[in-house]
Amino acid sequence: MKQFTKQQLALRNGQDKPEIWVAFQGVIYDVSESRLWKNGKHYEHWAGQDLTEELIDAPHTEKVFLKFKPIGLLV
Ligand code: HEM
Repeated sequence: MKQFTKQQLALRNGQDKPEIWVAFQGVIYDVSESRLWKNGKHYEHWAGQDLTEELIDAPHTEKVFLKFKPIGLLV
Protein backbone atom coordinates (compact mmCIF):
# COMPACT_ATOMS: atom_id res chain seq x y z
CA MET A 1 0.00 0.00 0.00
CA LYS A 2 1.09 3.59 -0.58
CA GLN A 3 2.60 5.41 2.36
CA PHE A 4 1.79 8.94 3.45
CA THR A 5 3.23 11.21 6.12
CA LYS A 6 1.31 13.08 8.78
CA GLN A 7 1.88 16.28 6.81
CA GLN A 8 0.36 14.78 3.64
CA LEU A 9 -2.61 13.52 5.64
CA ALA A 10 -3.05 16.90 7.31
CA LEU A 11 -3.61 18.59 3.93
CA ARG A 12 -6.58 16.28 3.24
CA ASN A 13 -8.62 17.85 6.00
CA GLY A 14 -11.51 18.99 3.84
CA GLN A 15 -10.23 22.57 3.73
CA ASP A 16 -6.90 22.71 1.91
CA LYS A 17 -7.42 20.07 -0.80
CA PRO A 18 -10.50 18.44 -2.35
CA GLU A 19 -9.76 15.02 -0.83
CA ILE A 20 -10.97 14.19 2.66
CA TRP A 21 -8.91 11.52 4.43
CA VAL A 22 -9.08 9.99 7.89
CA ALA A 23 -6.60 7.58 9.48
CA PHE A 24 -7.61 4.83 11.87
CA GLN A 25 -5.06 2.44 13.41
CA GLY A 26 -2.47 3.65 10.90
CA VAL A 27 -4.62 2.98 7.83
CA ILE A 28 -5.82 5.94 5.75
CA TYR A 29 -9.36 5.99 4.36
CA ASP A 30 -10.80 8.35 1.76
CA VAL A 31 -14.13 9.61 3.12
CA SER A 32 -14.60 12.32 0.46
CA GLU A 33 -17.84 10.71 -0.72
CA SER A 34 -19.41 10.68 2.73
CA ARG A 35 -22.09 13.26 3.42
CA LEU A 36 -21.19 12.79 7.10
CA TRP A 37 -17.67 14.18 6.54
CA LYS A 38 -18.56 17.28 4.54
CA ASN A 39 -15.82 19.91 4.63
CA GLY A 40 -13.78 17.50 6.74
CA LYS A 41 -15.93 17.82 9.83
CA HIS A 42 -17.69 14.89 11.50
CA TYR A 43 -19.55 15.99 14.60
CA GLU A 44 -16.73 17.40 16.77
CA HIS A 45 -13.99 15.62 14.82
CA TRP A 46 -11.78 16.81 11.97
CA ALA A 47 -10.37 14.80 9.08
CA GLY A 48 -6.70 15.03 8.09
CA GLN A 49 -5.45 13.15 11.13
CA ASP A 50 -5.35 9.78 12.87
CA LEU A 51 -8.55 9.57 14.89
CA THR A 52 -7.89 6.18 16.50
CA GLU A 53 -7.93 7.59 20.02
CA GLU A 54 -11.14 9.48 19.39
CA LEU A 55 -13.26 6.54 18.31
CA ILE A 56 -14.06 6.00 21.98
CA ASP A 57 -16.26 9.15 21.82
CA ALA A 58 -18.29 7.74 18.92
CA PRO A 59 -21.71 6.07 19.21
CA HIS A 60 -20.46 3.48 16.67
CA THR A 61 -17.59 1.00 16.30
CA GLU A 62 -14.79 0.91 13.72
CA LYS A 63 -17.14 -1.07 11.47
CA VAL A 64 -18.05 2.30 9.93
CA PHE A 65 -14.74 2.07 8.03
CA LEU A 66 -15.64 -1.21 6.30
CA LYS A 67 -17.38 0.51 3.40
CA PHE A 68 -14.33 2.66 2.65
CA LYS A 69 -11.37 1.36 0.68
CA PRO A 70 -8.03 1.84 2.48
CA ILE A 71 -5.92 4.13 0.31
CA GLY A 72 -2.65 4.02 2.19
CA LEU A 73 -0.67 3.74 5.39
CA LEU A 74 0.31 6.55 7.72
CA VAL A 75 4.06 6.51 8.33
C1 HEM B 1 -18.90 12.55 18.91
C2 HEM B 1 -18.37 11.59 18.16
C3 HEM B 1 -19.08 10.95 16.99
C4 HEM B 1 -20.40 10.92 16.65
C5 HEM B 1 -21.58 11.53 17.39
C6 HEM B 1 -20.50 10.14 15.43
C7 HEM B 1 -21.69 9.84 14.77
C8 HEM B 1 -21.81 9.09 13.63
C9 HEM B 1 -23.06 8.67 13.01
C10 HEM B 1 -24.45 8.98 13.55
C11 HEM B 1 -22.75 7.97 11.91
C12 HEM B 1 -23.70 7.30 10.93
C13 HEM B 1 -24.40 6.11 11.50
C14 HEM B 1 -23.49 4.98 11.85
O1 HEM B 1 -22.80 4.48 10.93
O2 HEM B 1 -23.49 4.56 13.02
C15 HEM B 1 -21.30 7.94 11.80
C16 HEM B 1 -20.59 7.38 10.78
C17 HEM B 1 -19.22 7.37 10.67
N1 HEM B 1 -18.32 7.80 11.63
FE1 HEM B 1 -18.79 8.72 13.33
N2 HEM B 1 -19.25 9.74 15.04
C18 HEM B 1 -18.36 10.22 15.96
C19 HEM B 1 -16.98 10.04 15.95
C20 HEM B 1 -16.27 9.43 14.96
C21 HEM B 1 -14.82 9.28 14.94
C22 HEM B 1 -13.87 9.74 16.03
C23 HEM B 1 -14.52 8.65 13.77
C24 HEM B 1 -13.17 8.23 13.27
C25 HEM B 1 -12.34 7.50 14.04
C26 HEM B 1 -15.77 8.42 13.05
C27 HEM B 1 -15.88 7.85 11.81
C28 HEM B 1 -17.06 7.61 11.14
C29 HEM B 1 -17.13 7.06 9.80
C30 HEM B 1 -15.96 6.71 8.88
C31 HEM B 1 -18.49 6.93 9.50
C32 HEM B 1 -19.10 6.39 8.21
C33 HEM B 1 -19.55 7.56 7.34
C34 HEM B 1 -20.42 7.10 6.19
O3 HEM B 1 -20.89 5.97 6.19
O4 HEM B 1 -20.64 7.91 5.27
N3 HEM B 1 -16.81 8.90 13.81
N4 HEM B 1 -20.75 8.62 12.87
